[in-house]
Amino acid sequence: MPTLPPRSATEDDDAAGVRALDPALRGRLNSLIDEGRDFWNQFDIDVRQREFHPFVPANYDRVLRTLIGLRAPGLHFLEWGSATGVITIMADLLGFDACGIELDPQLVETARELARRYDSGARFATGSFLPAGYEFRPRDGDGRLGTIGRGPSGYLELKQPLEDFDLVFGYPWGGEEPLMRDLMSRYGGAGARLLIHGPTDEIAIHTLRGRG
Ligand SMILES: C[S@@+](CC[C@H](N)C(=O)[O-])C[C@H]1O[C@@H](n2cnc3c(N)ncnc32)[C@H](O)[C@@H]1O
Repeated sequence: MPTLPPRSATEDDDAAGVRALDPALRGRLNSLIDEGRDFWNQFDIDVRQREFHPFVPANYDRVLRTLIGLRAPGLHFLEWGSATGVITIMADLLGFDACGIELDPQLVETARELARRYDSGARFATGSFLPAGYEFRPRDGDGRLGTIGRGPSGYLELKQPLEDFDLVFGYPWGGEEPLMRDLMSRYGGAGARLLIHGPTDEIAIHTLRGRG
């Protein structure tokens, strides 16, 4: 199933959206973002300077502005590789029905604790965002997964298939975007949008065409 060409969110699109938020909500979101950054700075010292770990945070301010522009009642949001859960919790606080899937169980614990403290209903599953049985078989034959790990499907724990989500967010490492787009085109719901955070913090929005 082909996707429409991506639309990039721009500063003009979304800066006004942040200013228009209820001040109390804006304060909670800013505090969440600050905590997320502080956590990562410590994680970088404690974990990443000793061994490789794929967790690198997205530009949270940029993601927030993009999500504000995409809000609509009843939308289901999923974050692939949700790490500390900052983005999924942000989505929940903005009114999305929000879930995250993360392979590292300690990060999932951190995300759940953060959600509790922010009185957020965001849900997190420990596992892989690759559905059971999914294989990446690109035309050029290079089906390496890069830093994307393998594990039991997180959709089973969420009790929701990928097809149920209207918005899916991913922050791939270099070379991993084709897998994310392939996965979404094969398992995503008609009309769903895939938000890809790029290496220079731009966020491309790919809309899946309807099936048929
Ligand atoms: C580049 S980080 C992005 C973290 C988070 N989305 C953010 O933007 O702050 C990628 C995350 O994906 C996780 N991850 C890697 N492979 C995964 C998989 N198959 N399923 C779920 N999470 C995975 C890593 O542990 C890491 O936390």
